[in-house]
Amino acid sequence: MKQERSSFSSRIGFVLAAAGSAVGLGNIWRFPYLAAKYGGGIFLLVYLILVVTFGFTLMVTEIAIGRKTGLSCIGAYQKMHKRFGFLGWVASLVPIIITPYYCVIGGWVIKYLVEFIRGNAAATVESDFFGNFIGVAEGGLFGNPLLWFVLFVLATAVVVLFGVQKGIEKASRVMMPVLVVLSMIVAVFSLTLPGAMEGLKYYLLPDFTQFSFRTVLGAMGQMFYSMSLAMGIMITYGSYMKKEDNLEKSITQIEIFDTGIAFIAGLMIIPAVFAFTGGADLNAGPGLMFVTLPKVFHAMPGGDVIGVVFFLLVLFAALTSSISLMETVVSIFQDKLHMGRRVATIAVTVLLLVLGVPSCLGYGPWASVTLLGMAFLDFFDFISNSILMPIVALATCVLVGYIVGPKVVSDEVEVSGVFTRKKMFEIMIRWIAPVCLLAILIGEILKVFGVISI
Ligand code: TRP
Repeated sequence: MKQERSSFSSRIGFVLAAAGSAVGLGNIWRFPYLAAKYGGGIFLLVYLILVVTFGFTLMVTEIAIGRKTGLSCIGAYQKMHKRFGFLGWVASLVPIIITPYYCVIGGWVIKYLVEFIRGNAAATVESDFFGNFIGVAEGGLFGNPLLWFVLFVLATAVVVLFGVQKGIEKASRVMMPVLVVLSMIVAVFSLTLPGAMEGLKYYLLPDFTQFSFRTVLGAMGQMFYSMSLAMGIMITYGSYMKKEDNLEKSITQIEIFDTGIAFIAGLMIIPAVFAFTGGADLNAGPGLMFVTLPKVFHAMPGGDVIGVVFFLLVLFAALTSSISLMETVVSIFQDKLHMGRRVATIAVTVLLLVLGVPSCLGYGPWASVTLLGMAFLDFFDFISNSILMPIVALATCVLVGYIVGPKVVSDEVEVSGVFTRKKMFEIMIRWIAPVCLLAILIGEILKVFGVISI
């Protein structure tokens, strides 16, 4: 007997679930530091263009494949074409690489939350606070990032183990809008800081002299990451979507949500970087949010309390993402290693803990070990976002553009309404996306081996 696959009860339910997976640390932590680093306005412009072209095309493809096959990643690719089963495996590797370091950053969020709750907000403003923390120079258990990382992993694992995602989802439906509103308030405050206008200009006005291969590469990796693309996640979500729900409209809404939150996060952070450091911190990298926001809260009336609320909400956004990331890895273990759910969850927890330790200690005791010149966390981030995801995306374009044909996807979209951006989709999937992805991959590989420097 064929089992009916459970599905989201309404289209809005689907949009919220997919947006809940998309919105996370990628928007609040990763987007602002990349935008700061890669030229501000020019990065924002390239990012927006990518989201509505590339991002749209890939998301339509993944959700349509999921809904059409009714299967999750590995099975879905196999069903599309028997030679493409491997693609599901490569895509599955991505969450296995991302989740451990995602939990490291989640741990940093807990640390800041606890410092703010303890009334220690003033200490977090000190210029070497963050560096000492991730450098494990602070001493003591509470100063050790390993503790916070383990806590974050355990919090995620407990939810997955006891299958109480529903409760978390419900809570996050309330928390998310509050996070958006609070971020807007903080952003408006940031903009009133003396010197912030310089930062606003940097963030909004594209400076074409700053355009480089790096800008495109950074923006593309971020697009994959933020929209949870090229790792099979959206295929799984699509498999739960009802046939009569409008696919294109849902995707537009997810994109607006995801990009909107990233944009606001940039507004909170980048003008403040100019206000406090005159732009010196633009290159701070993964620590940018953690060094900048405490200064904003410190300058803000009631900032100590706002900081507590803010880090709590970010923690929620991070947890919903880490839960769904871990859930993905657990179901891969269940399906492919034939483990029971409990055993799989425990095995994945152990794996996360082991894989996360290098990322956690990579800016401190293990800083002398670098991979391709990068600390562990940056290396894992690079391998997943700049190598594996473009490979998965490229192979997906080849599969849909040339092997099964774009019609398979557009027919699926048209089951539930007109496909207004069909022409663009077809051109993107066959021509523009594969060519750009190939160029990017080749550029990346040449750069890694030192043949070119871009
Ligand atoms: N998009 C999430 C973020 O912006 C991170 C993420 C990537 C994710 N892949 C995922 C979350 C899969 C849940 C499931 O933070």
